[in-house]
Amino acid sequence: MTTVALAFSGGLDTTVCVPLLQEEYGYDEVIGVTVDVGQPASEFAEAAETAEALGLDHHVVDAKAEFAEVCFDAVKANATYQGYPLGTALARPVIAEAILDVAVEQGCDALAHGCTGKGNDQLRFEAVWRGSDLDVVAPVRELGLTREWEQEYAAEKDLPVEGGNEGVWSIDTNLWSRAVEGGKLEEPSYVPPEDIYEWTAEPSGETTIEVTFEAGIPVAVDGEAMEPVELVQHLNEYAGSYGVGRTDVMEDRMLGLKVRENYEHPAATVLLTAHGALEDLVLTNEERAFKQQVEQEWAEKAYEGLTFAPLVDALDAFVDETQDVVTGTATVKVAGGNCRVVARDSEHAVYAEEMASFNTEDVAGIAQADATGVAKYHGLQERLANAVADDVEKPELAADGGEKTEFADE
Ligand code: ARG
Repeated sequence: MTTVALAFSGGLDTTVCVPLLQEEYGYDEVIGVTVDVGQPASEFAEAAETAEALGLDHHVVDAKAEFAEVCFDAVKANATYQGYPLGTALARPVIAEAILDVAVEQGCDALAHGCTGKGNDQLRFEAVWRGSDLDVVAPVRELGLTREWEQEYAAEKDLPVEGGNEGVWSIDTNLWSRAVEGGKLEEPSYVPPEDIYEWTAEPSGETTIEVTFEAGIPVAVDGEAMEPVELVQHLNEYAGSYGVGRTDVMEDRMLGLKVRENYEHPAATVLLTAHGALEDLVLTNEERAFKQQVEQEWAEKAYEGLTFAPLVDALDAFVDETQDVVTGTATVKVAGGNCRVVARDSEHAVYAEEMASFNTEDVAGIAQADATGVAKYHGLQERLANAVADDVEKPELAADGGEKTEFADE
C-alpha cells in the first residue's frame, strides 16, 4: 500500500490533485495536509469541507507561532524583495517542513503539491522536500494542467470545488501578507479594482502608532504588550483600516518571468518602518551601511525559499549581533495610505544632543573651529582631479604657463 501526503488548501489545484494522484500516479491513499500560517478561517472551513466531500484523510497543523517568529527574523533583517515583504516566500519552508513531518509520522512514500511550473512555490516546497527520502510529485506541473482543464475535470468528476474567489483572482494569504494575482491583473497596464483588497480600506483618516522593540523584536503596540501572532494580527487590522500597506509589484520571479502581483501587508509595513527607524537611531553609520548589504542577501535567499541555507545562518548571526541595542520605541504616522516615522526613542541612541545641537559651545574638547581643518581637506582629491582634467583638455595653456597644476583654495 502506497501513500502520498498532499499540500492541501481545498482550492481547485489541490482538489483535482486528489483523484489524479490515485488514477495517474497509482497511489493507494492520499493524505491532505493544511498548515495554518494565519490564513482566514474561511479557508480552513473550505479545506475541511472539500476534504470531507473527497473522503480525504485531512490533517491540520498549526504553525502560526513558528511562522510569526520567521516574520520577526525578517523584521530584524528589514527584509523586502522589490518592495514585497515576502509573506508567501517566508511561509513556504515552514509549510513544507510541517507537511514533511506529517508525512514521515504517517509513513508516507511521497509528497505532492499543486503548484504550477511557472511560479516560485514549486521551487520553495521542493527545496525542502528533496532533502528527504520521500518521492516528490507535482501533478499540475507534470501533467501540464491548465485551470480550464481542471475546471472541466472537476465538473466531470463532480469534485467539490466552489466558485468563490477561485474563478477571478489567485490569492495567497498568511499572517504577513495577502497576495493577489491572475486574471486581468496579469496585464501590467490594468488598474486593479478596489475589490481585490480585503485587508486594507481605501485610505482615509490618520493616526500614530507606537511600536516597542526588545532586541529587534516587536513586543508591544501603543504600550500594550502582545504575543507575536496577536501583535501582527492587531496591526493588520488596525493599520489596514487606514489603508496602509498596499504594494503593486512587477515581480522578477526565480524562473526569470516578470509577473505583476498585488500585495497587502499593513502590519509588515508598520513594523518594518518602525524597526528601520529605531535602527537609524541606535546603530553606527558603518553598521547601517554594511547591514544593508546583509539585508539584500537575506531577502534574496528568503525569496528563493532558502531560509535554511547555511548562508542565512551566517547572515542571521550578523543581524542578531546588531540587534542587542535595537530596544526602544518608534512611532509611525499612518495617513493617506502612507506610513512614515515621526518619533524614535532608545537608551541606546548613538546620539548626543549637546554635540549635534546648534546651541551649545565646545563639547568633549572639540570646538567649532576644529572643523576648519576637516573642511580644508574635504573634496581635495576631487578638486585636484578636476584641475588635472582641465590641464589635459587645454595642454597649450599648461605648457605656455609652464606652471604645475594649481587648484583653487578659498
Ligand atoms: N509572487 C509571490 C511570491 O512568489 C506570491 C505568490 C502568491 N500566490 C498567489 N496565488 N497570489 O512569493
